[in-house]
Amino acid sequence: MREAGVRPIATNSPAESRADAVGDRDGVRALLTGPREPLFARADALRRERMGDAVYLRGIVEFSNICANDCLYCGIRRSNRAVRRYRLDDDEILAVAHRMKGWGHGTVVLQSGEVDARRENDRIARLIARIRRETDLSVTVSAGNRSREVYARWRDAGMDRHLLRFETSDPALFAAMHPDCSLAERLDCLRALRELGVQVGSGFLIGLPGETLETLVENILLVRDLDLDMVGVGPFIAHPDTPLAGRPNAWAHDPEICFAVIATLRLVDPDLRLPATTAFDAFFPGVGRDLALRRGADVFMPNDTPARVRGDYLLYPNKPCVDEGDGACAGCVTARIWSLGRMIGEGPGHSPKSLAHAAIS
Ligand code: 5AD
Ligand code: FES
Repeated sequence: MREAGVRPIATNSPAESRADAVGDRDGVRALLTGPREPLFARADALRRERMGDAVYLRGIVEFSNICANDCLYCGIRRSNRAVRRYRLDDDEILAVAHRMKGWGHGTVVLQSGEVDARRENDRIARLIARIRRETDLSVTVSAGNRSREVYARWRDAGMDRHLLRFETSDPALFAAMHPDCSLAERLDCLRALRELGVQVGSGFLIGLPGETLETLVENILLVRDLDLDMVGVGPFIAHPDTPLAGRPNAWAHDPEICFAVIATLRLVDPDLRLPATTAFDAFFPGVGRDLALRRGADVFMPNDTPARVRGDYLLYPNKPCVDEGDGACAGCVTARIWSLGRMIGEGPGHSPKSLAHAAIS
């Protein structure tokens, strides 16, 4: 474990946190637009130095695709009548969780559409508690915006981390994409989670229609200011059954910028847990996640959703692993990581930042 004090503890003060060379606006812009190979090499070296060669596996269980929201880009938005809706029962989720240890997946990520109803919130609390009681997995929840009280209840039940992307730092673009929520509300959720002592993951889409280079620069600076534990980013891919059908990624002329974003995040915020997200493989078939791991990323999130419902959780088309059998990603992922000369991280792989926080509190 890193000693407390090596890394300055979060101030959440933009002025202070942006004070070094790579972290200011011009520095970030220069990294994103400069030569790519030196950037990737620098990010890979820094990843090795700060995080080591272990790749931590966080198995995703997409336990429900029922969603009350209508985010314009998302394939499971409530207006998409073509989706066959499902919700797995707790026993089926637990059956997966019990197999995860054998697969080397130290964390279960419980992901679903957003349903902020009392019954659903209670079920999630019970599910977290049961997983913690019956396994030694860490529990991450990724189920959308909630009140501080609900997050507190989930924390008390045993939730270690929560993932909630801010999607874009541009309030107008955020409003255009999210009829049900504002950027300010989303950021309030992230702050509440941090105050509750939960490890916080967030992140953003790369290439939403209407995004510019300045949006990407601001997204990266916002990551830095929020002092997150983990950041998941991934290319926007138009889903045919959404209002953004057929819209190209804003970086279609420069898709490699997606990797430049990963590498820049590593340089700007070196102790971040940075997953090589699934959308990288959809955008760069067969190679995206491996390349992300070689350009700054240190986490992989295999799909552990039961095979019978995987095809019903399509946030975007060409999602990889959808036709694989139960548990197939587990073997595949191990081979991929070894072929990169890396190894599987053992245990939960908590964020070094959270360990430093705990050591001094
Ligand atoms: N393309 C890429 N990523 C998407 N997500 C949702 N829809 C899409 C899409 N069309 C991402 C969002 C969300 C995460 C779970 O999936 O960033 O936070
Ligand atoms: Fe899922 Fe390869 S990572 S099958």
